[in-house]
Amino acid sequence: MSSPSPWHTIGRHDVLPATKHDDRARFDIVAHLNAQIAQTLSPRVKTAYEARARQAFRLRHGRDPVDRHEVAEAMQREPAYRVFSLVRRNTMEIRQHAGRQLVARQAEALRDRAKWANDGARTLQLDPTLEAPRYVSAVDTHLMRGGYTAERMTDDVTNPANYDAGMYATTGGAGGPWNDAAGRALVDWLKREHPQFNPRRIVDLGCGLGHNTLPLRAAFPEADIVAIDVSAPMLRYGHARARSLGVSDVTFMQADATKTPLEDSSSDLVFTTMVLHETSRQALPQIFLESHRLLRAGGLTVHLEQPPYRGLDPFEQFMRDWDGRFNNEPFWSALHESDLPALLVKAGFGAGNVFESRCSALPPSQTVIKNEDFGRAPSWYVVGAWQAAKGIASLG
Ligand SMILES: C[S@@+](CC[C@H](N)C(=O)[O-])C[C@H]1O[C@@H](n2cnc3c(N)ncnc32)[C@H](O)[C@@H]1O
Repeated sequence: MSSPSPWHTIGRHDVLPATKHDDRARFDIVAHLNAQIAQTLSPRVKTAYEARARQAFRLRHGRDPVDRHEVAEAMQREPAYRVFSLVRRNTMEIRQHAGRQLVARQAEALRDRAKWANDGARTLQLDPTLEAPRYVSAVDTHLMRGGYTAERMTDDVTNPANYDAGMYATTGGAGGPWNDAAGRALVDWLKREHPQFNPRRIVDLGCGLGHNTLPLRAAFPEADIVAIDVSAPMLRYGHARARSLGVSDVTFMQADATKTPLEDSSSDLVFTTMVLHETSRQALPQIFLESHRLLRAGGLTVHLEQPPYRGLDPFEQFMRDWDGRFNNEPFWSALHESDLPALLVKAGFGAGNVFESRCSALPPSQTVIKNEDFGRAPSWYVVGAWQAAKGIASLG
């Protein structure tokens, strides 16, 4: 059995919430519950499907389930799945509750530390007139009360502080001490697949608190980097966190990824990490259109996500769909059924310049990752496209 990294091994910075013994113990319990879900409960769900539920479906229909909806029908009364789902949902509730009570009691201190770090910086550009889309502001995404945009007081940073501290528990430290595995994986992929590519301007759309932006800073020290999000609290916290980690030249800008104020053809790399599944059917193609608008000839857009359902067997699709059904991820299922390469072509990228790939951050010997992937190196599905002539910007 792989063990999650204990919470006390998280990377420290000045806006990370201060924890007591019981806070850390709660987070460690969450990480161990996730390990049990992945390593003990999840395999039992599969056994129950193969040994009982699929047989019962066959008796009723004369054939196997052909898609995740039919697997769901087969599994709805299956005790192993109900226990798995109950424990998983409750683990998320415990994780959110632990994070909320941690940040609520130090809300003012967190706000003041962020204000102090951000004071006078031109690299934090907030837009109080920006209205966040309802798919962000009206959803308690993955059970996070108030979602990304909630502000319980002026200059609030409690939800991002909860997100930062709790993510380490949810993933059992799989993202590394800085929760930045996706950013490091993207850098590894770029350096391996396109070693000549040297972007002068990088745009991170839906940067959150910048976990996965900062590895790009380290990898491309000359580049101008703009990290964009609709959420002012995420940007306030992320900007303060970056400064506390010695990064003071990334611009954190409040804007909608579907219509940023950046100029046409002004960027060489436009990327997202774990953003597309938290958008909407309408926003997704607009984010691709915006990526196309922002890129210079020879520029690259790359998006890291969980793999699409296409090509996975129906049971695997069903298991991966849990977040869409029970974890307040309303666009999860639709995103994983979307044909992202086709949408990139529709956004204006040439079909021959669109690609799919995989990337990963840690050697397989590293332990810990969430849920059914637990114990494997974190890895992502990559979809992207080059703008017109591949490689031109890299040589410029
Ligand atoms: C799951 S978080 C991912 C954050 C970050 N990319 C990371 O890898 O840690 C999704 C983020 O996307 C942001 N977001 C969603 N839709 C957006 C939009 N239309 N424009 C800008 N940000 C958006 C949310 O506010 C949230 O911070």
